[in-house]
Amino acid sequence: MMTADMKTRVEERVNEGLKNQWYPVAKSVEIRTDRPYGAMALGRKMVLWRDENGDIRCIEDFCPHRGAPLSYGEVHDGNIGCRYHGVIVDGTGTVQRVPAMPDCPMEGRKALRSYRVQEAGDAVFVFVSDSEDDEPHELPLPTELSDPAWTGFLCTAEWGVNYRYALDNLADPMHGCYLHAESFTLAFGSKQDLLELDNRDDGFRVSRVGQVGENFDWVEFAVEEGGMFCHLDIPYPPAAGPGGHMRILGYVTPVGPRTCKVFFWRMRKVDGFDRESWRFLYRARLEEQHWNVLEQDRVMLEGMPDDARSREMLYQHDIGVAHLRRALHRAAKEQIAAEDAALAAE
Ligand code: FES
Ligand SMILES: [Fe+2]
Repeated sequence: MMTADMKTRVEERVNEGLKNQWYPVAKSVEIRTDRPYGAMALGRKMVLWRDENGDIRCIEDFCPHRGAPLSYGEVHDGNIGCRYHGVIVDGTGTVQRVPAMPDCPMEGRKALRSYRVQEAGDAVFVFVSDSEDDEPHELPLPTELSDPAWTGFLCTAEWGVNYRYALDNLADPMHGCYLHAESFTLAFGSKQDLLELDNRDDGFRVSRVGQVGENFDWVEFAVEEGGMFCHLDIPYPPAAGPGGHMRILGYVTPVGPRTCKVFFWRMRKVDGFDRESWRFLYRARLEEQHWNVLEQDRVMLEGMPDDARSREMLYQHDIGVAHLRRALHRAAKEQIAAEDAALAAE
């Protein structure tokens, strides 16, 4: 039995986002050598930039002098200079120079924590943990991002909801033929069905029983130590050009209590001329249509109250949602228990 206190802590941890995981925070192209980029994950403000070698540096977005956001500053020789009074901090979070004051004792002090960063599939992932000394797990990546047979585009958006709503939405294939019924790709298939759940060691799959390949009919979640992502297929009508279904890869980053950032890769396994023609068609026409579908999700979720969970009535179609929530709870509980054990051992 969980104590009431433990229950609250688990719930809070799930709402905030699991720690010790890799979360995407930006597109690769957004992180540059000539200006800093401010990001937020799990309520932590971070600033990212590229040093002279093109390597990404990421530290707390907080000037050690008086707390101004370093992301408002400038990049100088691979370090970051605060806009407020010019203090210069390097990629390890150490103060390099205080130009306004000769021999200032702040110089040489390690004042800020840094975060580990990895780039994959045109995105920047940050390992979010309590200490920079935490050894990161492996970054969980689907084959679609490592196998060059796949090609695609990354789309990101900030949504004004807790990240759990975005994950629930992904674990719920039945909304496709309703919410997106007027759309280009999701207008097909039956509006009644049952869903089934296939639980695996490394995640789970939710699928419609009555149809495959007509609409958003299944989704697979990979739940690994270092993070969580999902993929699903969207059938493409002939007007969407050559190739089979469009594969969508999704990661959701918890930003704050009521904000998240979604990362969706739209991918296809096509080569040669087909590849080029799909990429062209995507940029020219499909991207906007897919964006409109995503907007339907955003508007719907942002319209739901924060405490919808306390009044909802789930039915059979919500097996994916329920399973996902259990997985998050289990992971949060394990995380808290491990932290308590580490504290007790000190
Ligand atoms: S607050 Fe950054 S230099 Fe003063
Ligand atoms: Fe949707």
